[in-house]
Amino acid sequence: MEPMETVMRSFAMRFGRAASIVVRAPGRVNLIGEHTDYNDGLVLPAAVARYVTIAAAPNASGVIRLRSSFYDAPAEFPAEAPASSSLPPWARYPQGVAVALSARGVMLRGLDLTIGGDLPIGAGLSSSAALEVASALVFEHGAGAALSPRERALVCHEAEVSFVGVPSGIMDQFASSLARAGHALFLDCRTLETHHIPLPGGVVIAVCDTVMRRAIGHSAYADRRRECAEALQWLRVHDRPLASLRDLTVDDLANAGDMPEPYVRRVRHVVTENARVIESARALEGGDLAALREIFAASHRSLRDDYEVSSRELDAMVEAAVEAPGCLAARMTGAGFGGAVVALVSRGNEEPFFAETARGYRRRTGREGTFFVSDAAEGARP
Ligand code: GLA
Repeated sequence: MEPMETVMRSFAMRFGRAASIVVRAPGRVNLIGEHTDYNDGLVLPAAVARYVTIAAAPNASGVIRLRSSFYDAPAEFPAEAPASSSLPPWARYPQGVAVALSARGVMLRGLDLTIGGDLPIGAGLSSSAALEVASALVFEHGAGAALSPRERALVCHEAEVSFVGVPSGIMDQFASSLARAGHALFLDCRTLETHHIPLPGGVVIAVCDTVMRRAIGHSAYADRRRECAEALQWLRVHDRPLASLRDLTVDDLANAGDMPEPYVRRVRHVVTENARVIESARALEGGDLAALREIFAASHRSLRDDYEVSSRELDAMVEAAVEAPGCLAARMTGAGFGGAVVALVSRGNEEPFFAETARGYRRRTGREGTFFVSDAAEGARP
């Protein structure tokens, strides 16, 4: 059964009436530009056709009631004072969106919601951003409001950082909200300028999930952010008064002098990765797929050796993928420490690509990965 029908059906079972609205927001893969968003840098994600789906209907009780097919614990909060209830962790994402919308003057109404969908959780495909963006669409609909996709992304990001307390960058919410079908989303995280880069018709996006989920993910992510802030501070006291690491160029790296470890490697990753985003955008626009292979490989090496956010399984999956038929380019995607690898694969080769990658991953790790293919999907729309 289609995820939309499943979620509508589970709404009817839980609330005893039919849903009056169904919305969905896609997950994303980041094609390139990893750990650059919180350094004011460049990213190139695309939405994938896996979604968080929410079925909802108004109620007369002035309460927003949440049910999820992923978690047993139900949750609810008053529409007029969304911050006033203490909720289980999964429900804090929609709650945070409600708080951020209220703060912008959107008058929330009582609603019943059932959350489901087919986007894997914790795979590095931004299920939290998709949950936030889908929640925003439902709450806006209930309130008779309609934010622009950009405002919606900003509200959702604010919810995640200020309310949930996860110090993530802006990429995921932008991708889920602004992406365009058939295109990658080029985003300058400093100016928030975007442009849509068409993906060549002969290329599909393959997601290769290591199925490894790392508990240390959140703290290690915060460590990397702190290291970047400290490196910036070091540069400032050494006569380089920069606004962010974004302002360094590859040439500057040669003169970084005696910057201590691990900062020198962290900075090298950020600076070279920003350059790789520009090169990748150019390669896609020029149809130079051969160039992408090496750019993606360099990105993966940099994340593995300089930024140290890869894992044995991610490395194994990339090695397996690049040897498989039809593979144009592959690298880890998302925050790292587990999660998925993204590969660009020439259309028509999906089956042998997945079969061979699965075999190579199994041989290297003894584990079974999971795999899916997608075209670049459309961002969430009302
Ligand atoms: C997570 C964060 C993003 C970004 C990536 C790494 O997905 O939510 O903001 O920092 O990690 O590129």
